Amino acid sequence: LQTWILPIVLSYLIGSISFSYMIAKLTKGIDIRNHGSGNAGATNTLRVLGKLPGIIVFILDALKGMAAVGIGYLLANGEMAVWMSCGIAAIAGHNWPIFLRFRGGKGIATTIGVTSILVFFPALGAGILAILFIMVTRYVSLGSLIYTASLPIFIMLFDSNSSVYFWLSLVMMVLAIIRHKENIVNLLKGKERKI
Ligand code: G3P
Repeated sequence: LQTWILPIVLSYLIGSISFSYMIAKLTKGIDIRNHGSGNAGATNTLRVLGKLPGIIVFILDALKGMAAVGIGYLLANGEMAVWMSCGIAAIAGHNWPIFLRFRGGKGIATTIGVTSILVFFPALGAGILAILFIMVTRYVSLGSLIYTASLPIFIMLFDSNSSVYFWLSLVMMVLAIIRHKENIVNLLKGKERKI
């Protein structure tokens, strides 16, 4: 049990570090969650603070996912389920951060970090598809949903043996849908914010 609890708790805490919140507070003295879409994530940082801060937040949030998988890998004793759970824990930390009264982001950059380590080529495929959608529609949320929805398909296409990662990607998709409920409603109504 110890091989599980420590890495998962650590991953959740790393995920809970909200870089969008910190950078907005430090540079502008504002709570990012009261501006733009109200989301503590890279897209809203780009919207509220500009391109460079947005890119920095995206990279740091993705690194949280990579770090969590790395920690899981180091402490797991070869148990794959541990590092997979660590990835999910980091995403959960990002979405529901303990340091911010559980009001965080939507987890996509962190999901990209986790998946680019575990399933690089499927992640690349899903990423390219998502970017195409974002370029055409200007809806980042749609791109995020496309990313998580197409990932299981890309995993099956690239490697029929990686069924465990297929299930992991389904969990990530469910988390993304839960966090994008408002975006989905707005997309359907044609009221979603563009970039
Ligand atoms: O990854 C977050 C993105 O999908 C949506 O962010 O701020 O437009 O709700 P936002």
